[in-house]
Amino acid sequence: PQVFFMQTNGAEKVIEGAVGDSVMQTAVRNGVSGIVGQCGGVLSCASCHVFLAADELCNFEDAVEDEEDMLECTATDRQENSRLSCQLILADGIDVHVTLPDEQL
Ligand code: FES
Repeated sequence: PQVFFMQTNGAEKVIEGAVGDSVMQTAVRNGVSGIVGQCGGVLSCASCHVFLAADELCNFEDAVEDEEDMLECTATDRQENSRLSCQLILADGIDVHVTLPDEQL
């Protein structure tokens, strides 16, 4: 699946992701600036915050309670389509479009 990373300045990076990887891992491995992933994906940092395309929210399981809690601690205020990208796992044939917040830390 392809992952489209949009910076708030309009720049876009498209990465061919691997099924089973998270969006956060895909970003970190490919040097996408704007996603930090400090805790390595265990829901204790909120530095992997993204805004997921609204029409793709239904492609993923709802946020678990720990993710909801961490979304209250993001450096850039959460919005309705905020997710932590370490919880967005790539599936076969499901492309993902995320916009990166201004700040992660
Ligand atoms: Fe830390 Fe996602 S990488 S919460």
